[in-house]
Amino acid sequence: MEMSYTLAVTLFGYAVLWFFGRVKALIYFSQRRTSKGYAPLQTDLEEFVTSRVLAPLKDCYARPIVSPASTWIDVLEREVVDSRCISKGRTRRCFNFGSFNYLGFGDPESPCRDEVIKVAVHYSSHTCSNRQHLGTTRVHIELEETVARFIGKEAAMCFGMGYGTNWAGIPAIIGRGCLIISDTQNHASIANGARTSGAAIKTFQHNDAQDLERVIRKSILEGMDSKRPWKKILIIVEGIYSMEGTLCPLEELIRIKKKYKCYLYIDEAHSIGAVGPRGRGVCDMKGIPPADVDILMGTFSKSFGSMGGYIAGPRDLIERMKLYSAGWIHSPSMSPAAAQGVMSVMKCIMGEDGTTIGRAKLVSLHRNALYVRDRLISMGCEVLADAGSPVIPVMLSMPGAVCAFSRLTFERNIAVVVVGYPATPKFQSRIRFCVSAGHTLEELKIALDRVEEVVDLCGLRYMRGWCQGWKHNKTSPEPNLKIIEMKSKEPRISENGKVPTKTTEEVRKKRK
Ligand SMILES: Cc1ncc(COP(=O)(O)O)c(C=O)c1O
Repeated sequence: MEMSYTLAVTLFGYAVLWFFGRVKALIYFSQRRTSKGYAPLQTDLEEFVTSRVLAPLKDCYARPIVSPASTWIDVLEREVVDSRCISKGRTRRCFNFGSFNYLGFGDPESPCRDEVIKVAVHYSSHTCSNRQHLGTTRVHIELEETVARFIGKEAAMCFGMGYGTNWAGIPAIIGRGCLIISDTQNHASIANGARTSGAAIKTFQHNDAQDLERVIRKSILEGMDSKRPWKKILIIVEGIYSMEGTLCPLEELIRIKKKYKCYLYIDEAHSIGAVGPRGRGVCDMKGIPPADVDILMGTFSKSFGSMGGYIAGPRDLIERMKLYSAGWIHSPSMSPAAAQGVMSVMKCIMGEDGTTIGRAKLVSLHRNALYVRDRLISMGCEVLADAGSPVIPVMLSMPGAVCAFSRLTFERNIAVVVVGYPATPKFQSRIRFCVSAGHTLEELKIALDRVEEVVDLCGLRYMRGWCQGWKHNKTSPEPNLKIIEMKSKEPRISENGKVPTKTTEEVRKKRK
């Protein structure tokens, strides 16, 4: 009953969008310009969706910012006039709940800033060449050594773009006659890399180890065709899924990959630098040696406050990939300043800079991530993320709520990212709260109070009362409090997993 209510409202929302879009399309149809004799560049449906359905919602997406992506950002105010987004000529200072600046190293006050500036001055912004020609600097070589050490693998190679790391890296690992078994919720870069590789692709249900085992067994039994077995099988998953905030079931994946002699590739875009007592991703978080995972991939655009990505694995594989990855060979090398930024951040997290800044940031991020998730759950929101994930998606479901939520939070000086169809399935629009170590508990408390007002206005307390039926997230492991045990002046998490509103100092004083 309750589920059908939400479904009905969602369907009604789409019907309204569709109806008004169609009416506008009829009115403006004559304005569509296609040169005589040419096929239209867009189909009628594409034209209808982009210019009639999505255009009025444009101000909720791609909001330009006019400041660094730190805890507080200046966002340009805009309005939609005639399907175009026009600047209102002023900015709004917002609490940043949307950037992937997990450890706060993207802030202008980052402790690594001076080293980045020094490299930018020395090498300029770019090498104007690719790695095979004259695009390899001392910084690139040192970065790859540092990444390998940080990840716990023999060797690593770095790309100038995280998306391109999957897209150009996967085809250098696997090809025709091989099989990729991919989680249904894997990122688009993985899907594109898998397609480009020429390998056969099969999928398994999101985070469902039983389904993965079923797909592997069936594939092995059937083989490539009746006579030939697969040359190799590669399982591809994410450490933390960006649209769900769910953690991969690592122990199960390793058991299965060992049992069936498959290779395992984990994309750690959202987990590297963000989870684990030493910030080294899901293996670190679960106390599993990185040697148990064949290939570890990650990006530098989240926790490391830079750009690019890496693939880390056995040395002979990495050496071979450097010869076969077209995207690595033919695209320009990473900007030396961006490479230096990543290297300095990794050294800071490892404590090699002689400070405890990196460790303190890990503690703050973990505390904040648990606090935000906890508050959203207690509001009655349908939170998808597992405990500890720095990206916390919350279900909106209804298409009307997507823009309403974005605009209402913006009015309250909070910048959030909303994601709707076609980036998600039609009934699974969501908000993605991104937590940062740079957020203080006080700021988070105020921001979440304002979010709660909007949750009420949009009717998003799906997990309260009669709405409780439609639950997407079935597994929600207990918070990993291990990391919190590290010495820190920051407020700690108590045994029940709740963040005390008072700092430990205040509690101690009160006790005295
Ligand atoms: C799982 C995953 N892989 C790869 C990427 C691409 O990384 P980048 O944004 O650094 O290009 C993303 C981007 O968010 C991602 O979520």
